[in-house]
Amino acid sequence: VFSKRRYRERRNKLMAKEGQLMAIAGVPYGPGGKTTWAYAYCPTYQEPAMMYLTGINQNNVILLLDPNSKVSDEILFVDPKNRALEFWEGVRLGVGDEQSLKEVRSVTGIQDVRDIREFKDVLKERLLKRKTNTLGTFWLQGTRKGKTCSIKTDHNYDFKKKLDGWLRSWKAPTLKNIMASHFELRLPLDKYDVVNARKAQDITGDGFKVLLKNFRKFKNECQVQGFLEGQMLMNSPFGLSYPSIVASGSNATTLHYTKNDDDFFKNEMMLIDFGVRWMTMHADITRTFPVSGRFNPMQKILYEIVLKAQCAVEKKARAGVTMIALNEVCWETVNQGLEHNFKAIGGECELQYDERPHGVGHLMGEQEHDGDPFRNYLQEPMKSGWMISNEPGLYGTFRLRLNGKIYDEKIGIRIEDNLVITANGCLNLSSKIPKTVKQLEKLMAGRRGD
Ligand code: GLY
Ligand code: MN
Ligand code: MN
Repeated sequence: VFSKRRYRERRNKLMAKEGQLMAIAGVPYGPGGKTTWAYAYCPTYQEPAMMYLTGINQNNVILLLDPNSKVSDEILFVDPKNRALEFWEGVRLGVGDEQSLKEVRSVTGIQDVRDIREFKDVLKERLLKRKTNTLGTFWLQGTRKGKTCSIKTDHNYDFKKKLDGWLRSWKAPTLKNIMASHFELRLPLDKYDVVNARKAQDITGDGFKVLLKNFRKFKNECQVQGFLEGQMLMNSPFGLSYPSIVASGSNATTLHYTKNDDDFFKNEMMLIDFGVRWMTMHADITRTFPVSGRFNPMQKILYEIVLKAQCAVEKKARAGVTMIALNEVCWETVNQGLEHNFKAIGGECELQYDERPHGVGHLMGEQEHDGDPFRNYLQEPMKSGWMISNEPGLYGTFRLRLNGKIYDEKIGIRIEDNLVITANGCLNLSSKIPKTVKQLEKLMAGRRGD
């Protein structure tokens, strides 16, 4: 009852906003298919827009929304029931089966469920009947350097192209992208999303704490990855948010390092970027720590520069502020820290980038990286309920002579928390995941982190 009310409400809001006929496609293929979020082992592989509007995690479904219809304003098209296929792949919802129909109705609240092979005819009939001269659909489109561009490699674009072709042949209205209104509704999390996001944080954080307590057992990045992912997956059936980055020593200067196969050595730092999903909410956490369990003096100075920048961003984050402004605070704090706390005591460094290595954050929610893939949201005042990552970093070769000792390392440091923006500030969902030097050293020494 709860879920169907929630999905129905989401679809109603979209219909009220758009007022036009809309067709939205789920992913046409199963896990392992070619979408950016469909990793082969991923238990949730549905198009996030479809997941958000219906909760149906199954390939080959299409949602038709027709706000001007008095008889049936929403129709879900699914495959016919196929028992032979179910023998291989497990139970799937399908037309021609009473039980399926009951389930679809109870999960989604959609009463009208039809065979996907009828979609084209139904669309044509509805479209030619409607007075509005557009058909809404969803694809990823934005502006990059002032030019409009689309992501052409995902299934949404394939669906759009198919619709374009049909509309031309029917001499019917043109397509309109509903991406902006969809994201406007989807990005601010509601209280249930926040509960789920917190649960994802708790499992991710617990995995990290257990990892650090056991860290002495490990010698290779893949052991760390296996243990950490095992801890998280044991506690969530919804899968990882993304494949973990487990990077020791200089590997941590590769931002999206995924080989995770090197042995590590006692004086190195390790950067891990990891997280699990709970329901459809993602955690996206990064922690960096010394594999020995103790920071050397240079590592501590550099680490605390990044941590200070992260705190400054958190302090500044609130509704109405832009993410561009967060970037300014972040990289300014890092640069100041390098000047005053590192170079001023004789430190030298070669950074691997000009000005800044990456943005301090991105939108999150139904996807690890959510919202406009072209990130034009960076210029928008943030809204209450937006979830963002806060992930300053420092990457390069650093040298320092201190108390007669010379430190010389190629290091990558990133610390990443997830924040929910509020009218007066933000909630740091990751606040229980240890990150101060003291907390990390305590945990690795086998005692409780505070
Ligand atoms: N996990 C990749 C990122 O932090 O954006
Ligand atoms: Mn991350
Ligand atoms: Mn991130």
